[in-house]
Amino acid sequence: MNKKWWHDKVAYQIYPKSFLDSNGDGIGDLRGIISKLDYLKELGIDIIWLSPIYKSPFVDQGYDIADYYAIAKEFGTMEDFDELLAEAKKRDMYIIMDLVINHCSSQHEWFQKALAEPYGEYADYFYFREGKNGNPPTNYRSYFGGSCWEPVPGTDLYYLHMFAKEQPDLNWENPKLRQELYQMVNWWLEKGLAGFRIDAIINIKKNLEFPDFEPDGNDGLAACWKMIESADGIGEFLNDLKENTFRKYDAFTVGEVFNMKEGELSSFIGEDGYFSTIFDFNAHSLSNGEHGWYDAPPIDFKKWRETVINSQLEAQGCGFEANIIENHDEPRGVSRFLPEYAKTPSGAKMLGTVNILLRGIPFIYQGQEIGMQNAVWNSLDEFNDINTIDQYHLAKDAGLTDKDVLKVCEKMSRDNARTPMQWSSGENAGFTTGTPWLKVNDNYPEINVLRQDKDRDSVLNYYRRLLKTRKSPEYKEVFTYGEFIPAYEDTETIMSYYRQTEHQKILIAANFGKEPVCLNLETPIRRVILSNQKNLPKPEQFLKLESCEVIVAECVED
Ligand code: GLC
Ligand code: CA
Repeated sequence: MNKKWWHDKVAYQIYPKSFLDSNGDGIGDLRGIISKLDYLKELGIDIIWLSPIYKSPFVDQGYDIADYYAIAKEFGTMEDFDELLAEAKKRDMYIIMDLVINHCSSQHEWFQKALAEPYGEYADYFYFREGKNGNPPTNYRSYFGGSCWEPVPGTDLYYLHMFAKEQPDLNWENPKLRQELYQMVNWWLEKGLAGFRIDAIINIKKNLEFPDFEPDGNDGLAACWKMIESADGIGEFLNDLKENTFRKYDAFTVGEVFNMKEGELSSFIGEDGYFSTIFDFNAHSLSNGEHGWYDAPPIDFKKWRETVINSQLEAQGCGFEANIIENHDEPRGVSRFLPEYAKTPSGAKMLGTVNILLRGIPFIYQGQEIGMQNAVWNSLDEFNDINTIDQYHLAKDAGLTDKDVLKVCEKMSRDNARTPMQWSSGENAGFTTGTPWLKVNDNYPEINVLRQDKDRDSVLNYYRRLLKTRKSPEYKEVFTYGEFIPAYEDTETIMSYYRQTEHQKILIAANFGKEPVCLNLETPIRRVILSNQKNLPKPEQFLKLESCEVIVAECVED
């Protein structure tokens, strides 16, 4: 395998709107981010992914871009952005941005021109299609509910939008559109950006026959991803994109890829793959409900363990995956993947260790490093997320009581990850001196950066040690390139694996159970290098793990 500059890096996702507000308008901004670069450096972060900061009407929180060349005024100016790039560089850190090119905002100039001339040049930047007998062209349901087709005023045409109606899909079949996008990507890379996180990228290839599908809900519609799964030939688009942009700059790219076909992983992340890496969402997909959030199954430990292990084994055959616990679209990992008794600092450390020492590129989501949790939500009004509002009504239509509907959203809402970052126990958790755009989690007096900074045993200080261990000269090689080998899979509650090179073998073992477990060690341990307990165990033949205990240990070479 050829070594790449990003193989040993640790990444951190910033959701700018909720990170830190520097001017009291209740919205996080670029100056807020600049002021926390040292905090991130000290944590052990190399690459920072910024969720969209482009000009946008924020119907989907910036994932609806009105101008790819402009910074949203809410976040600051292009000068602020250039300063961020320069300040990151000074600290040997890299900035990557979100690349949202499956769709743009309905306020983008291209779409406005298309509406003005529905049979003109710009209509072909989008999917404008005739309706069928007074109905939309097909029966697809958008990800945020309702039809994927919206009438083009004054015509019999409809335009396609797989997300909100304010997010029209871009027509990648049009070579002119593709050239415009490549130019834009290169413009940012020229500026000094290190790469991109690439949004909803599997959606760019449509099945141009646009077949109807068997309805799968009470609305008579069928999930639009079924059309995406029926499309062939995305590889040509993705190669073309890479060859015309990323490759020339040796950029780091991480794809948001769902609905991949069997056997395709190596074409995405292999030596010559379309991307450097893609996120591993397999564990998150375990809570996909058949109809929506309201029938999402709970996470079962053994299933979760098996899923993580299988993902690792598959990925190491071809490349590196990006490992996450949570992101801006997912509930908090501590609330989701840990049983009730483990939603504690020990549990957060255990989950973090198991995830971050996997083979791949770790991505930490803002607040994860202090163990942030889902919020308590009292009514629909408190939410902002477009997806949550749709899922709320879906659950209600399915007959759930008001109380249960709220519980569903509390468990699954994307706003759980979007509540402001908890910096201190001061007003609004130190996020803003104004009124925060989304409510602050009530638990901020206990869970916040300032408090944890002073406490040696906090989740934050543990994450610092964890990343330090991963990146230390002694262990960097094994944690970056070491093989992943699952261990103790026949136990009820232990999640465990080795990372191994020719010279080193490291054991990671965590007890997700409520009771202590005693493992009969299959490979003797030389020394424990990290643990979330105060007293480092001195295992020889046996290893006793308390509930929520995790250890990282160097094995005696065999
Ligand atoms: C991705 C983003 C999500 C957004 C969607 C549409 O899934 O992560 O936040 O709503 O794409 O752009
Ligand atoms: Ca602000």
